[in-house]
Amino acid sequence: MAEKYKIPRGTFDILPQDSYKWEYIRKKFRDIAELFNYREIVTPIFEQADLFERSVGNSTDIVQKEMYKFCDKKGRSLALRPEGTASVVRSYVENSSLQQESGTKLFYLGPMFRYDRPQKGRYRQFYQYGVEILGVKDPLADVEVIALGYLFLKDLGLSSFTLEINSIGCSECSPEYDKALVKYFNRFKDSLCNDCLARLEKNPKRILDCKIPSCIDISQEAPSILDNLDEECRLDFDKIQEYLTALSIPFKVNSRIVRGLDYYQKTAFEFINNNLGAQNALLGGGRYDGLVAQLGGKDVPGIGFAGGFERLIISMENEKLSFGKQPIPQIFLILLGETARDSGIKILHDLRKAGISADFLMKPASIKSQMKQADRSRSPLTLILGDNELDQGIITLKNMNTGTQESISLNDLISVIKEKLS
Ligand code: HAM
Repeated sequence: MAEKYKIPRGTFDILPQDSYKWEYIRKKFRDIAELFNYREIVTPIFEQADLFERSVGNSTDIVQKEMYKFCDKKGRSLALRPEGTASVVRSYVENSSLQQESGTKLFYLGPMFRYDRPQKGRYRQFYQYGVEILGVKDPLADVEVIALGYLFLKDLGLSSFTLEINSIGCSECSPEYDKALVKYFNRFKDSLCNDCLARLEKNPKRILDCKIPSCIDISQEAPSILDNLDEECRLDFDKIQEYLTALSIPFKVNSRIVRGLDYYQKTAFEFINNNLGAQNALLGGGRYDGLVAQLGGKDVPGIGFAGGFERLIISMENEKLSFGKQPIPQIFLILLGETARDSGIKILHDLRKAGISADFLMKPASIKSQMKQADRSRSPLTLILGDNELDQGIITLKNMNTGTQESISLNDLISVIKEKLS
């Protein structure tokens, strides 16, 4: 026997028994994005590696450790996208049609790739839904994206999540805060983990996000960004809290949210579900006012979020929520006899042309196994056609719920079925 292949580590197949759940979420997200008047953007799965190195940041784990980077046949350095924001901004800078004075509201759905240590809720290929607003500096934009995320999760029926918000300051006050952090953490250099020692050099805020217990202990007493915000950041952060309160969106201020990507400024937020275990961020985002200019565009502000489908599905399953109905055929056709089998495909074709979903067993089989298959398909109606019935121009219709059967004329088939289904 030839060798069997295994799926690459950290990836998974979405099998038919689950794929309808994904479609359900995709549709719900599209619906909510359209409710807020966002338009869909689809960008390539790979980009120039440099795009992510410059935006997500060279010192981040995502770029340093997790990016799938490769050269194409001409030696160009490319990367599978680890996230969507950089691609959206690249497209925004490239396409003047996107650069609207009033602001640009975009949403996206698709796979992302990170070479991370796989565990529940963390994969090497995962699927994100996300939104971005480009061109609006006002805190109203921050609140709009947060409100969209909130209504989306609520609309799915989720209740076990909390919104945590923070401001990580702007290009003016954030470097000052970094200095205060360096001063503080320098006192604990001997006790910090190796990653945090590197963070101390490159991005001290990220120490606040370290998951190692000794580093968590040390950072308990670290200065808070909220005591170090400048006037504008402070006012914007206050305004966001005011708006969220007015919208009755519950939130908690968490000054330790720093986010794992370098492009953030000011607002940072996460929707957390503590039932998820270690990978508890359902959705995360924030403001990235310097990014468009950094990627060659004008000085245009931005804000957005993204969330993973996988953690959402785990959360929904934990809360025993519905994913809508699994698709089932409306009709199952049972064919008895040679001539009936030959005519079966025409009957199915007519049903399908009329918009009635229908299926049958393609392999010749006994009535018993065709009946079994009809049961398994869960279709509400079964049609049974034998050679004799075909001669008389009739077919038997069985209601699978009540078990009642009736003969109907093949000429009236479509209209009768439509009536039964309505
Ligand atoms: P992020 O926090 O890196 O942000 O990812 C957003 C969400 O994607 C996470 O909260 C999580 O639900 C999901 N996620 C991330 N990594 C994985 C993984 N390895 N496996 C499964 N799910 C994962 C961003 O990606 C930003 N681009 C969000 C953003 C948009 N900020 C502004 N606009």
